[in-house]
Parts: sequence; structure tokens; C-alpha cells
Amino acid sequence: MLDCDVVIVGGGLAGCRAALEIKRLNPETQVALVAKTHPIRSHSVAAQGGIAAALKNVDGEDSWEAHAFDTVKGSDYLADQDAVEILTKEAPEVIIDLEHLGVLFSRLPDGKIAQRAFGGHAFRRTCYAADKTGHAILHELVSNLRRFGVTIYDEWYVTRLIYEDGEAKGLVMYRIEDGRLEVMRAKAILFATGGYGRVYNTTSNDYASTGDGLAMAAGAGIPLEDMEFVQFHPTGLYPVGVLISEAVRGEGAYLINSEGRRFMEDYAPSRMELAPRDITSRAITQEIRAGRGVHKDGGAGGPFVYLDLRHLGKETIMSRIPFCWEEAHRLVGVDAVVEPMPVRPTVHYCMGGIPVNTDGRVRRDGETLTEGFFAAGECACVSVHGGNRLGSNSLLECVVYGRRTGRSISAYIQGRNLPELDPEPYLQDTKTRIQTLLDQPGAVRISHLRQAFQDCMTEHCGVFRTEAVMAQGLAQIQDLKSQYSQIFLDDKGDCWNTELIEALELQNIMTVGELILASALQRRESRGSHAREDFPQRDDGEFLRHTLARFEGDKVVIEAMPVVINRFPPQERKY
Ligand code: FUM
Repeated sequence: MLDCDVVIVGGGLAGCRAALEIKRLNPETQVALVAKTHPIRSHSVAAQGGIAAALKNVDGEDSWEAHAFDTVKGSDYLADQDAVEILTKEAPEVIIDLEHLGVLFSRLPDGKIAQRAFGGHAFRRTCYAADKTGHAILHELVSNLRRFGVTIYDEWYVTRLIYEDGEAKGLVMYRIEDGRLEVMRAKAILFATGGYGRVYNTTSNDYASTGDGLAMAAGAGIPLEDMEFVQFHPTGLYPVGVLISEAVRGEGAYLINSEGRRFMEDYAPSRMELAPRDITSRAITQEIRAGRGVHKDGGAGGPFVYLDLRHLGKETIMSRIPFCWEEAHRLVGVDAVVEPMPVRPTVHYCMGGIPVNTDGRVRRDGETLTEGFFAAGECACVSVHGGNRLGSNSLLECVVYGRRTGRSISAYIQGRNLPELDPEPYLQDTKTRIQTLLDQPGAVRISHLRQAFQDCMTEHCGVFRTEAVMAQGLAQIQDLKSQYSQIFLDDKGDCWNTELIEALELQNIMTVGELILASALQRRESRGSHAREDFPQRDDGEFLRHTLARFEGDKVVIEAMPVVINRFPPQERKY
């Protein structure tokens, strides 16, 4: 068995920022960071548009209170306002700290950090590094991990959280290179495992975003919070779904339908293309449904709308959003300097997740906390995004709550012993699980079953939802889950067996998908990204509350948790 003081699962922004904080506070703390990819290939590296903070470099009237209000309104009043206050108050200092670490932010002519407009933000407060902000931040954090002596276990896949009687004690982990299995025991375990975009068939997320941490927590009996809130980013490049950053609209691009009209004037006249994502994604979907989408041949009635940048000019496009230009050019052959890009909504972000308090401690239920278990970043729900996240608040959450959770872990482990743990039953259980997968004589291809599951989720729990369609989806996924025991693997080996990893990931995708659908079915109202055609109004009387969904055996049980409202009373949400 391997021992350390703290083990962090996930090498993205939240995990790296927490590791750095723990080491800064006490360089003697033994910190292990376990990730299924190399940390600089974590999905945070793909974050494009920026990170929000009321620095006031461009708009002097901005303030943390204004940022907090925009975030709460954007969340459709489901965000916990104490958590939002921390997020927005601490934002300026975490940006300056990143700058001191060496992050190369884009600059204003006076040398200050540049800030741009983003959807749902009333002021220009999004700091950026062209359209490669995640790349710029993650590279600095990872090099600092090395400097501070964090032990990195890259390309190890965590198969199980060891959780006994309300206490997290360790992990079972599998080395992809050679199939070695180990139990890692720690005084504190932090999950920073990212999101689950791959539960759906079209997503801006990388292939590794399979909801592993969420599924492991759920498998241990921990509830997941607000899983019905799935963010569709309005501008996925059609047909591939990769992200075309909101920064493109922040720089002034237009959304145009087949009639050549800027249709956002019908949906959010005061914000136009910079309305929050839930509203913009619904608007695009409605345009397409009404026959005002565009076909490949440029005619009406097709499956996408246009994102038009041409009026920005080559100089602005190439200096501020060069990566977006490159993506469209490389992937669909569109030169955005002279022609519009085809876009439609793509699954982008998980507002829900493992429920935590503002110190990153995982909740056992609505009232009690677990011991030894923490979560931060996209896999956690603190909840600063509520029903809909504003663009550029997610990198911010990773850095603010990564730092904060690192601090709280550092205090938590003082005087704490390593837990009592017998690793053998856990190792044996994982060996059996893997051997069963390798040996089973099934006839179902992993890729076929995964595709069927992703198609089912996309069709039954998309931008718009109804009871009948979701119930049908839930029945269908029960059938798909039953086929899992019939998948077969061609690769029976233990050297770089990525087929085995895909099989394990598929189980996580299925677990997360079921919790999304079950949570969405019970919320009979429309709020944020959860748009019910059969319940089109927000219903604060019944549903101004968080959802907690957990497995009891094979059944999903739903409970409620109150929302913290201490500054901004809920109002009608209009833009
Ligand atoms: O559009 C974007 O660049 C994405 C930013 C975000 O999700 O925060």
C-alpha cells in the first residue's frame, strides 16, 4: 500500500491549484497527484475565453458585488450566495497571484491585464490570454508543482474511492502502462476530476471527460447535487461540437439565422449575443426548430446558425481569437475572415456535482459532512453556478476554490493519523472486476454501446425536456445498462490496455447519465439550463432548492437541500 498525507485525483486547474497551496503552506506535506492523463493534457488546458474578476482595468465602475449579482442572476437564483461572495471577492487576488506565478495574460496598451466582455456579465471583467487562457494558466501551475515537489502519478486510472463509515480512506489505482494495481492511503483525499461531457454525443469536452469522480462518489453512496443542470455552450462548431469560444462574441461577432437576421434581438434584446448561455442556446435551438437554421448549401431549414466575425477584421481575429479561427479552418474548412462559421449548441459544462461546503468538504447528505473527503472544480458543486454558469466563472472557481480547499486540507490534516485500512479486499475486488471484463464472452462493442447511450442522453435530456421524453430515456438507459455485461474486449493484455480503460469509463458515463435523467425528471419547473416544455415557468415555491440524488441499491433516491440566499432576493430573470 502507498501512503501519503494528501492525494489529489485530477491534474487540471483545481487539483493543481490545491496542490500548490498545500505545499506553499507546508512544504513537508507529502502530496500525491494522480491523473489518467499527463496534467498538462487535462481538459482545463482547452479553456479558451478567460477568467472573470472585477479588476476594473477596463470598466472602472465594476465591483465584486456587481460580479456576484451577475453570477446569482445568471444562476437563475439557485447559486448559494455565500459561496458566490467568496468567489467574486477573492477573484482579483487570485488573478494577481497567477500573474506573479508567470501566467502570460493579454495586456492593455497601459500594461495592465486586458479584460473583455462575456455573456451575462454587466462589465468587461474577463481576463484572458488570447483564446488560450486555460493553456497559459495550467502550464504555469504544473511547472510549479514540480518546483514544490508534488509527486505526480500520471497515466494512473483511479478505479475506486475507498470509503468506509462516512470516511474516505484511500483509492484503488491502475497504472495504464503495465496494469499494476495499488491502494493509495491518505489523511485527506481531494477529487478534482472534472466534468462529464462524454455522457452526450456532441460536446466541447475532451475524450477523458467521462465523469469518473462523480461516478466513484455516487458508487460510494454519496449524493450528487443538481445534476439536472447541464450547460449547452451556444457555439459548438458544427458538426464536430468543439468549442468556438464566447470570446468571439465578446469581441463583437454576430449570431445570424437563415434569413440573415441577428435573431438574439427576439430573445434578449438588451444583451443580444452576450446573453447568458442557457438563453442563447435555447434561442439557437428555437431558430433551428422553426426552420430558420442553415443548411450546408446555405439554404434555410438546416441544423446550424451562423457566427459571423467578418466585420471584426483580420487583425482583431488573428490577435484576439486566433485559435477559434484555426479550429474552423482546420476542422471544417471555413476561413472566418471571409465567411461565417456554422455553429449550434454543444454540451460544455456540469453545473452540478459532488456537494461540498465552502471549505471543499464533501457533504454526506444535506446535514452532515464526510471525513477525509474533499472536492473542487467542475466535479464539485459548492454551488456558485446554480442553474446556469456564466462564461469565465469556471476557471475562476477552479482557482479560488482550489486554493481555498488546499488551505482547508492543510489545516484538516494537522494532527490527523493515516486511517486504519486493509487494502486486500479492495485490490481483490478491482482485480475481479477487471478480469471479469477481460474474460466475458460478450458480443457488444464498447463503442456501439457508448454511442447508443450518448445518443439516448442527447435525444432525451437535451436543451428542451419533457416528462414523457425523459421517462422514455430512463427506460432506454436501463436496457443499455443491462448490455454492459455483454461487452467484449479484443485486448486481453495489461500493457497500455486503453480498451479496458474505455470499458471502465463507460460504466461511469452510464452512472452519471442515469443521475442526470432522474434528477431532471423530478424538477417540474424551468430554471437556468433546465428547460421543461411541460413546465415552462420557474417555480420558486416548490423548487427553489437543490437536488441531492443518490443510489440506494439500483434505485435513485432524490432529496432536497436549501439554497443559501443572503444578499439578492430572487427576481424575474430578464435580459
Ligand atoms: O467560451 C469559452 O471560452 C468558454 C469559457 C467558459 O466556459 O468559461
